[in-house]
Amino acid sequence: MNLINWYEQKKTQAADWQSEAGNPPPKAVVIADDTTKADEAYRLACEGTALLYRGDFQNAKQLLQAITRRVDRKPVKPAATMLEAFHQHRARQIGRANITNKVLIELKHGGCDLPRAPDVKAAVQGALIVDEKTDKLPARLVLSLRELLGMVGAHEWRKKGVQIHALNASIHAYYGVYSPVRGEYLDLIDQAPLNSPQVAWDIGTGTGVIAAILVARGVKQVLATDNNPRALACAAENVQRLNMQTNIQVLPADLFPEGQADLIVCNPPWLPAKANAPIEHAVYDPDSRMLKGFLSGLKTHLTADGEAWLVMSDLAEHIGLRQPEALAEWINEAGLQVVEKLDIAPKHAKASDQSDPLYEARAKEITSLYRLKCA
Ligand SMILES: C[S@@+](CC[C@H](N)C(=O)[O-])C[C@H]1O[C@@H](n2cnc3c(N)ncnc32)[C@H](O)[C@@H]1O
Repeated sequence: MNLINWYEQKKTQAADWQSEAGNPPPKAVVIADDTTKADEAYRLACEGTALLYRGDFQNAKQLLQAITRRVDRKPVKPAATMLEAFHQHRARQIGRANITNKVLIELKHGGCDLPRAPDVKAAVQGALIVDEKTDKLPARLVLSLRELLGMVGAHEWRKKGVQIHALNASIHAYYGVYSPVRGEYLDLIDQAPLNSPQVAWDIGTGTGVIAAILVARGVKQVLATDNNPRALACAAENVQRLNMQTNIQVLPADLFPEGQADLIVCNPPWLPAKANAPIEHAVYDPDSRMLKGFLSGLKTHLTADGEAWLVMSDLAEHIGLRQPEALAEWINEAGLQVVEKLDIAPKHAKASDQSDPLYEARAKEITSLYRLKCA
């Protein structure tokens, strides 16, 4: 872990530095408190100076909100194309994060001792400790308040869970793991014709939700893979909660495990663009690496009469990030054919939010389940 240094109480201080996006610790750090004015804090943050907050926790949150409002006041240039709107939107997200991440908080053994601070320890532990046997929280840890609030929000969701209609049960997502909160695609998994597979695989299982639906539909043996340690821990916990341990095995893999399966399901990240933080790897798939890797590996891993289900949204096509014919070409090049395509339109609020810069593309989005077989 990196160290962050700053000068306080007449000496140089040091603490472990946490940044989910992998940003290096800020070099310039000043102390801020309840007397720090929002305009001054905004100016410092824009210049790259971080503010380590030593006042009241709720005031720190207000200062962060005031800085965020100032960032969001900047006028947005009209974009000529949807692709330009997308790149502008991503650039704005990065710029916004760079500035708003400059308000810092120190945690001691995962707890925050500022006045009026909530108990954040369980949220921090849940976000940062994947393997409880080997890891413990550092005595002094500095991170951005924004990231800390993200951990607290994720922890609330993790406790509450997301109700999954097809399971008649809830699924609990860890911090940094794709949450099936927009679950239309799960209706497709629940409804697609199932030819009594002996063994099914769920590639990139995330919370384990697809594996669980397959078991609820009667599949006896499911292997669920992911390359994100948080997802693996999260899926294992959901499997246990649902009492499906005898049916689902969760294991680390870059895409496929060894061997073959009768049904191979995958809901890969759907936008071919750069991820700016590990948390974004569930949405952004640079150069369509996972999508292409999945398709090209199916011929080797499907049994003779086996079938694959690919869940894919066409948002990338509406934005201009993928050519409309590209997916059909990749399916063809992988020696596969589409047996059936089941479609569903997203129902989530973003799809009808006209203020969203990508509204025009989102309004046309269709998510499909492609039933694929070897040609
Ligand atoms: C869109 S999320 C889907 C999660 C889950 N299957 C669902 O439908 O809710 C994509 C998942 O693929 C995983 N992933 C990305 N690249 C991978 C790879 N090369 N091998 C295995 N899993 C991968 C991510 O960690 C993430 O959990």
